[in-house]
Amino acid sequence: AMAEGAPKIHESGNLLSDDKMVKGDVDAGFAEADVILERTYQVPFLEHAYLEPDTTMARLQPDGVMLVEGPMQAPFTTRRNVAPVLGIPINQVRVRQIHMGGGFGGKEDSPIDLCCRAAVLAAHTGRPVKITLEREEVTIQTAKRHPMIMEVKLGAKKDGTLTAFQGVIYDEQGACASLGPKIPPAGGSHVHAMVMMPGPYEIPNVKVDAYLVYTNHPYGGAMRGFGAPQVHIAHEQMMDELAAELGISAVDIRRKNAFKLGSATATGQVLSQSVGLRETLEACAERFDWDRRLAECGWVDQAKTKRRGVGVAMGWYRTSIGTNGDGCGAAVHVHEDGSVLLYSGITEMGQGAFTVLPQICAEELGIEPGDVRIVQPDTDLVPESGPTVGSRSTTLMGNAIILAARQVKESLLDTASMMLMVPTERLEARSRKIYDRENPGKSLGFAAVAARTMASGKRMIGQGWWTPPPPSLDGHTGQGSPYHVYTYSTHMVQLVVDVETGEVSLEDYVAAFDVGKAINPKALEGQIEGGVAMGLGYALMEEVVLDHGVTQNPSLQGYLIPTMLDVPDIQPLILEVPNEMGPYGAKGIGEMPNIPATPAILNAIAHASGGRVRRLPADPEKVFWAIREAGGPPQA
Ligand code: MOS
Repeated sequence: AMAEGAPKIHESGNLLSDDKMVKGDVDAGFAEADVILERTYQVPFLEHAYLEPDTTMARLQPDGVMLVEGPMQAPFTTRRNVAPVLGIPINQVRVRQIHMGGGFGGKEDSPIDLCCRAAVLAAHTGRPVKITLEREEVTIQTAKRHPMIMEVKLGAKKDGTLTAFQGVIYDEQGACASLGPKIPPAGGSHVHAMVMMPGPYEIPNVKVDAYLVYTNHPYGGAMRGFGAPQVHIAHEQMMDELAAELGISAVDIRRKNAFKLGSATATGQVLSQSVGLRETLEACAERFDWDRRLAECGWVDQAKTKRRGVGVAMGWYRTSIGTNGDGCGAAVHVHEDGSVLLYSGITEMGQGAFTVLPQICAEELGIEPGDVRIVQPDTDLVPESGPTVGSRSTTLMGNAIILAARQVKESLLDTASMMLMVPTERLEARSRKIYDRENPGKSLGFAAVAARTMASGKRMIGQGWWTPPPPSLDGHTGQGSPYHVYTYSTHMVQLVVDVETGEVSLEDYVAAFDVGKAINPKALEGQIEGGVAMGLGYALMEEVVLDHGVTQNPSLQGYLIPTMLDVPDIQPLILEVPNEMGPYGAKGIGEMPNIPATPAILNAIAHASGGRVRRLPADPEKVFWAIREAGGPPQA
């Protein structure tokens, strides 16, 4: 599509966005290097394969307002698109979100399209309109994870110190722009991929050229990681290939170069707090018992058909939309019986937002999570909260909820102070009681205080709005601080490759994360297990197959995703290096877990079999040929 004379997808040409990131001087960096390696990696279109197909219902309410309902991650973005499509003001559209049977980023943009279609039909006919896609339609017409061709050149000193990174990304957008380019307030997945491409490593000289290109294919959009899973597949394999070339271990090269407190990223952002990457590496290596397992790898059977190997990969991921800016609102209503309604526009898609957000609200008010009911997102009821994307829900909404809860708590404590004759600064609210810190026996029930507060006409409603520090990113140099904080991770995996068939079986898995603070450790472990399974699918089997632009495997019979039989025992390891800007120190975790999983598995396949798969998926055929290309498996 970038070639001279290629057919134009749109009048404006096929190059949709051309972005650059330049730090230091790569030529000088390569001149200093003892070893320079160049590799190309390629990843295909990926389908989210959420269980619930897209559906929507639109109907004109008696008051003339267009009501649109459906499972969606971004009710406010949907409203901001439906209104201009109908040619009416935003306040004449009401969008209600219903629980989702999975989203994974895919229900950020696709439902907008479907909701607009339904709203147009409803407006023209005056009748309710329902549209539900069949599975095959979901695969063919909704957003996919962007395919990329990634060229990497990496230079290092003999001791493994990185001196220069040069990357080129050919990012396939497909036929429509969607969330590829920067469209405020969304950050754009393309620029995110560019920012993440050199990995979580200190590299003094970096240059990345990132091209986003239209093709006659399905369109690329958000999918758990928003551009990061692709580039991690490049830099994490490259780190292993470089380590092998230098004769140092895959763990040591990461130990040497990984971000620490005070490191500068490729955008020149100095990481001034909450950097637990090295801690995840050490904790993971210890739990996994890396040195012992590494020593025990090799042939599994006498007949030499199966070889065991281990792999490691690291990752980093943003919290929040960043790049252009982000912000999030919440409201908390306390009632006279002590029960609470929480108004939030963050959506539930199985990730646990409706568990964690009431938990934060209850913690701040000093009541139990069961006392808080979270209101189903409805743009007529809840404050603007932004979309449920970018691993931003717990952190941004958590902060907004804390601010909202504190407003009501102030009037509750004021009442309690008068009732108990104790100054407010000495009052503590916990487990549905408000008590004197210096004399805990002196206490009142939360409900009694709420009733008195209501009766005395004081504030029962709190509103909170939280904005992260303003992001920055220079349009020409790609320098700045595009995101306010990052989550860090290290994964280690042990697997066996059948060198005669190319089949891969995972045996063991440890995944360590610096999450800042685990608000709900069990839900967090669930995110980790699901994410690793998703990264496994990307590594071993998933691909939307296209022939002249036509999708060949639109059903789940042809588009394979992992089942429980493919997923090994996963040991999650949770580390907490507090985020000064997070609720109780929390950072985002939604997207991170699937990101290092894919390259960890690819690295383990190469370690076990000698076969390095640089074009995904590493299905049995690709692994088989990669082993032959390498001249057969290692014999030792
Ligand atoms: Mo997410 S991929 O930022 O919806």
